[in-house]
Amino acid sequence: MITVESLTKKYGGFTAVDDVSFTAASGRVTGFLGPNGAGKSTSMRIIVGLTPATSGHATVCGRRYAELPNPGLEVGVLLDASAQHAGRTGREILTVAARTMGLPARRVDEMLDRVSLTPDEAARRVRDYSLGMRQRLGIATALLGDPEVLILDEPANGLDPAGIRWMRDLLRDYADQGATVLLSSHLLHEIEVVADDLVVIGNGRIVAQGTKAELLAAAGTLVRSPELPALATALTDAGLAVTATGSGGASAALRVDAEPDVVGRVALAAGVPLTELRAADGAGLEEMFLELTAETQRETVTEGAAA
Ligand SMILES: Nc1ncnc2c1ncn2[C@@H]1O[C@H](COP(=O)(O)OP(=O)(O)OP(=O)(O)O)[C@@H](O)[C@H]1O
Ligand SMILES: [Mg+2]
Repeated sequence: MITVESLTKKYGGFTAVDDVSFTAASGRVTGFLGPNGAGKSTSMRIIVGLTPATSGHATVCGRRYAELPNPGLEVGVLLDASAQHAGRTGREILTVAARTMGLPARRVDEMLDRVSLTPDEAARRVRDYSLGMRQRLGIATALLGDPEVLILDEPANGLDPAGIRWMRDLLRDYADQGATVLLSSHLLHEIEVVADDLVVIGNGRIVAQGTKAELLAAAGTLVRSPELPALATALTDAGLAVTATGSGGASAALRVDAEPDVVGRVALAAGVPLTELRAADGAGLEEMFLELTAETQRETVTEGAAA
């Protein structure tokens, strides 16, 4: 279990992480989702004690990371796969890590096997590794001590589709055996397939959190009509909360906080024809995430213009 309480990180006048609180429970995969620059890596670095927090704190297995006597046996960490020792071979890196943790050498072969790095690949220097191979080696290092908690920052980066599927299955299995898995991504769909719980962060702040089922269910109904303004009026008059969605024109639609049958009845009563009516399945989450992403991009543009 990971507990993060009111974590804040300031760099000068800039707040990278702003009063972030969440827990990642054992037996579950928690997805830490946010656009580029949202504060995911910073939060994770604070959790594993690599960056000091300005205020607030984080515990892993009930203790601060720095207080864990042999952290590798309790927490597997993959932060930056390209930060591994470039001059060492994959096998050397794992061997050194195994020794540090007091693990038998056979554990190295088991892990190489687990992440599908061949003996030939394990004998190559990491500087000659592809990004996907580095990620696999990073995962092998994280799993070495058979830890109860896994903290992985964008582990799917650089993996091909088969590699992404492999990673998902591995994380799922690991959580199913009772471990706590926290993984970050800037891609909603990547996280959506594997996570049980979601923590969504934007501009350093948590904007949504809960079980995936809760966040998806909150999406309501998606409805399209050639007479969208009339439909919006009818729904609003019926006391339902309505949000315009889609990019306008042919893709314009409404998202309604109600079940599809309720929306259908309102449309029927108002005599408005519908071209589509369905549960919005995550459309709300996607919309929120796109808004966050767009905001972040606007900021980047402004910063660029000011420089
Ligand atoms: N050492 C630092 N000094 C100043 N600002 C920093 C530092 N580290 C991070 N930041 C800023 O904090 C913000 C959050 O960065 P962070 O790396 O945590 O984002 P992220 O969510 O991991 O993004 P990405 O998806 O791109 O990896 C960014 O605006 C970044 O520029
Ligand atoms: Mg990051």
